Amino acid sequence: MTILKPFLIVGFSGSLRKSSYNSALLHAAAELLPPGVTLEIIDLAPLPMFNQDFEKPFPEAVNAFRSQLAQADALLIASPEYNSSITGALKNALDWASRSPQPPLQGKPVAIMGASTGNFGTLRAQLHLRQILTHVGALPLGKPEVLVARAEQAFDADGKLVDTAARGFLRDLLLALAKWSARVSPPSA
Ligand SMILES: Cc1cc2nc3c(=O)[nH]c(=O)nc-3n(C[C@H](O)[C@H](O)[C@H](O)COP(=O)(O)O)c2cc1C
Repeated sequence: MTILKPFLIVGFSGSLRKSSYNSALLHAAAELLPPGVTLEIIDLAPLPMFNQDFEKPFPEAVNAFRSQLAQADALLIASPEYNSSITGALKNALDWASRSPQPPLQGKPVAIMGASTGNFGTLRAQLHLRQILTHVGALPLGKPEVLVARAEQAFDADGKLVDTAARGFLRDLLLALAKWSARVSPPSA
């Protein structure tokens, strides 16, 4: 599938650590994009902890984050799994993005993926993430599922995704996201 008009995916990782496997998974995605698709990776670290007292107006870093989401044609979230759920950093970002006015997650096509050092590759975190995204009116893509288990074997020492099967699933996910976006938010919408 060739994407005819420029298509922007904004991606972020739920891990703040420097050598994060999930951030590395996003960088692998940047190497596997379909033609015509660009990926802009953003960092959640500048976001303050959500506080309902400080949303009128939003803090500057939150405004910047919300604008980046709003300008995206689709989102790509790399979610670690902490204690069978998503990380606090990711939940915090989604809480900021969920708030009115013009919540930028509303109607936004989203693909999710994750890498963990455990055996289930963020399966439980991804289920929670789907539930949250659906609640806030985003449009999560169903399949393919990208679950990178035992991440220390799937990435090399430089953080390159070397697991061939995982690279294939990731490539398929990006193509499916472009197709899903065309279906659920066509250019005329
Ligand atoms: C607080 C905490 C809880 C964790 N809970 C889980 C878990 O429930 N399931 C799992 O597979 N891995 C769990 N892990 C291990 C993570 O998969 C591992 O630290 C992974 O590298 C985190 O993602 P990152 O590399 O992107 O930072 C946990 C790690 C931490 C720090």
